[in-house]
Amino acid sequence: MMFKINAAFLVALAGANAKTLRKLQDDSRICSMTELSPLSDDTKLLLSTTLGGQNVIAAYEQYMGGETIGSNTALLAEASDASASPDTVVEDGMSGDIDFPFMDMKVVATMGERSVCPDSLGEMLVGVPDGIGAYLLDDETVRVVFQSESYGPLVFESYGNFVNDGQSRMGGSHVQYIDYDRTLMSEFMDNDEPASSMVVGMGQVISTMYNLKGELIGPRNLSGPTTIGAHFSNTDADGNYVVAAPPAESDWFLQSLCSAHLEQKHQWGPNLGVEDDMFITNEEWMTYAPGTSFVGLSAHAVDLANSVDYALGVFTLGGFEKIVEINPEVEGYTMFAFSGYNGAFDGFEHTLDMRNSLFKRSDGQNYTWSNDIHPARFYIGVKGKMEDGSDAPEDDFLARNGLRYGYIYGFAIDMSEDGPTGGLWRDDFHRDAEKATNGAKVDGWWIKQPWQWDGQVRNFEFDGSWDYQDQPPYTGEGSGRENYAWWNGMGNDMAGCKTEHVTPDPRPSVGAAFVQGSTCGYFGHYYVEDVVGRFESLRDGQMAPNAFRGSYYVYQGELDITEQIELGGKGQYVNGDATMNYDNPEDRITFEDIDGLEVLADGDELYVLIQEDSGNQYGERAFLAHLEHEDDGEELTYYFLAMSGGTMNTRMQAGVSVPKGTFTRATAHEFSGVVDLSAFFATDDSGDFVLSASDDGFAKRQADASVAINDKDILLVLQAHTQSSGILSAFQLDRGGQIYQLKPKLPEDA
Ligand SMILES: *[C@@H]1O[C@H](CO)[C@@H](O)[C@H](O)[C@H]1NC(C)=O
Ligand SMILES: *[C@@H]1O[C@H](CO)[C@@H](O)[C@H](O)[C@H]1NC(C)=O
Repeated sequence: MMFKINAAFLVALAGANAKTLRKLQDDSRICSMTELSPLSDDTKLLLSTTLGGQNVIAAYEQYMGGETIGSNTALLAEASDASASPDTVVEDGMSGDIDFPFMDMKVVATMGERSVCPDSLGEMLVGVPDGIGAYLLDDETVRVVFQSESYGPLVFESYGNFVNDGQSRMGGSHVQYIDYDRTLMSEFMDNDEPASSMVVGMGQVISTMYNLKGELIGPRNLSGPTTIGAHFSNTDADGNYVVAAPPAESDWFLQSLCSAHLEQKHQWGPNLGVEDDMFITNEEWMTYAPGTSFVGLSAHAVDLANSVDYALGVFTLGGFEKIVEINPEVEGYTMFAFSGYNGAFDGFEHTLDMRNSLFKRSDGQNYTWSNDIHPARFYIGVKGKMEDGSDAPEDDFLARNGLRYGYIYGFAIDMSEDGPTGGLWRDDFHRDAEKATNGAKVDGWWIKQPWQWDGQVRNFEFDGSWDYQDQPPYTGEGSGRENYAWWNGMGNDMAGCKTEHVTPDPRPSVGAAFVQGSTCGYFGHYYVEDVVGRFESLRDGQMAPNAFRGSYYVYQGELDITEQIELGGKGQYVNGDATMNYDNPEDRITFEDIDGLEVLADGDELYVLIQEDSGNQYGERAFLAHLEHEDDGEELTYYFLAMSGGTMNTRMQAGVSVPKGTFTRATAHEFSGVVDLSAFFATDDSGDFVLSASDDGFAKRQADASVAINDKDILLVLQAHTQSSGILSAFQLDRGGQIYQLKPKLPEDA
C-alpha cells in the first residue's frame, strides 16, 4: 500500500505522461514470487522413505529458488550444433548457439515452471506443449492458450484437473493459459528482460466439460458402465471404460490434444464465421483394450468466455491432427477444414469385424481399417440448427456456431489416365518429379459425404470415417463421373501418409481455402470454388450444396529440397547440415514428416512457418517460406529458423535441459504450434494500439496482415521429449518444452 501511494505521488510530481503511469500500474499486477516455506524435517523424513521422495525434495528445493513462469531465459532450440561453435555452452540449464540466422527469439514459458499468480493454485506448466492460440483478454492483457499433448495412463501420466465443480477429474492433456501484460509483451523483443517480468496470470482454461451426449462429464463408475456423464473417448457407447489402461488418479483423460486453433468471432467479415471466441482442439490416437468396442475420439470446442469444453461429433470420431475455421463466404454457416488420423486406434480388430458384418463397401469388398484412408476434407455447419435439423435455442453455444448440424465434403478427382494426376493417388503424385512441381494444379470436386452426425452416440463401426473407401456420391453408373474417387493418400485399400496440419488462407478476398501438409513431406493449397453461387442456387429445403468445384495447387512435392534451403551460415549438424534430414536410418533430401504448418499474412502475401516431426537424429528443423504457387518453374525457398533435439545432437548427448535437471534421454524434439501476435501490438500514428479486446476477429486478421513479415511478433512452440525427470516427474508434469516469441529477419528479396 505504501509503495502504491508513493509511486502515484512521484508520478504526479514528475508530471509523467500517461504511458509511464500505465506502466507503473501494470508493473504492480505482474505476478511476483512468493516465498515458499522450507519443507519440515518430518516431511523430508516421510518423503525420503517413499518411492521418488528424494526427487520431490530436490524438485521442491529447486522451486524455492525460483522456476516461476517465464523465469528461464535459456533456449532449448539452437541455431547450429554445439560442435560447430566451440564457445557454445554445453551446460545444463543454459542456451547453446542462439545466433539464429533469420530471426530473433526469446523464451516466454518453459514447461515445469510454476505460477506465482494470485488467481492460480500455484500450478505448474504441463508439457509437452502443442496447439496454441492467443487473444486479448482485455485491452491490457494478451492471453496465451496452449495445450499439452499428454497421454494419461498410457505414458508419463500428468496430474489431473477437477472439472464440473469437482464432480469429475480429467487427466491426460491440459489446456492452460498464461496472461502477459500487453505493453510489456509488445516490447519484449527489444529488451533483455525475462518473460517473468510480464506474466500477469495463469490457470486452467476448462472448468466445465460436456460429453458427446451433452451431459456434464461425471465420475467414472468403477463397478460397471458409466450410464450418465461418460467421457466417450475412453468408453464404448454404453459407457464401459475400454482404454488399455485406467488412469491412476483421474476419472477420465483427454488423450493427446495435439494441434489446436483459436478462432475469433466473425473473423472473415461482418457476420462471417463463428459467433463466439473458441479454442478448437482434438484428441489424436488411442490404445483400446483388444476385443472391445469403442466410440472413437472427438474434436472439442472450448467456449473461451465461459471456460466450457464441448465434445464435438460433427467431424466424425476418427481423431484429428488439427481443425481450423476457414472463410465460409456466406452468412448463416461456418466452415472448418480438418486433418489427420481417421482412426489411429490400437485394438481395432473387433470393430473392423463389426463393420464388415454390418456393411459392405460400394465395390462389394470388405472394408479395411480406416486409419489414413481419406481425402482432404472440410465441414459446413448450419448455424442455429440442432442435430435433427430443428431450430435451436439462441443460447445454445454449439448450434449458434454451426457445430451441431452440418455436412462433410471430401476432395474427389478423376482417377483415370486422362485425369489431372494421370491416375496417381495423392502420395504417389507428390513423389513424381515431373508432376508435383510448385504450381501444379489438380482439379476436382468437393463432394458431400453420406454420413452426418445425428447426435446419437454409437460405436465406431457406424462412424463416418469409413465413407472414404466407397465410391463418392454422384459419381456412380451413368453419372459421367464413373472414374472419380476420393483422392486418398494410397487409394481405398491401404493407409497413406497422414494429413498433418491444416491452416486457413487468411485473405478475405480469396474465400474458402486452406493449406494442407502431409507426413510424406509435401504440402499445397486447396480452394473451394464458387461458394456464394452454389449457395444462391440451393433448391427449396436444401441446407447446403451437394458439391463444389475445387482445385489444389502444389507448393512442394516430396522432392529434393536441398537446393531450396537457405541456412544463413547456420544449421551445421554434428554431421552434415540442415539442408538434409537425417532421419535414421535414411538421409533424406526431401522434407520428412512435415507436421507443424501455419500461414501468416503480410498484406496479400502469404508466408508459412513449417516444421518437421521426423526423428531427425541431429536436430528437428523449422523454416519460414514466402508462398506462391505460380506454375513458373520456380520452387519455394525455405529459410532455416532453428533446430532442436536429436539423438546424436551434441547438447542432447551431453544431457542438457531447461529447466535444469529435467533431462532423461537423448531423443527427438519437435517444433509445433504457431500464433501471429502482430495484431495485438500494431499501433496507429499516435502510438496507440489499433486493436481492442472488443473488436471482432476480422479486425484481428486485418491488423495481423498490416504488419510486415519482419515486424511480426510470433509465438512458436517446442516440444522437448528428452525431458521427463527432475521437477517434471516429481510434480507429474509429463515432458518438457518451451514457448517462444520471435521476430523474423528475412532478406529483402525473400
Ligand atoms: C455402475 O455400474 C453398476 C454395475 O453395472 C450399475 O448397477 C450402476 O447403475 C452403475 N452406476 C452408474 C452411476 O452408472
Ligand atoms: C469380410 O468380413 C466378414 C466379417 O468380419 C468376414 O466374416 C468375412 O470372412 C470377410 N470376407 C473376406 C473376403 O475377407
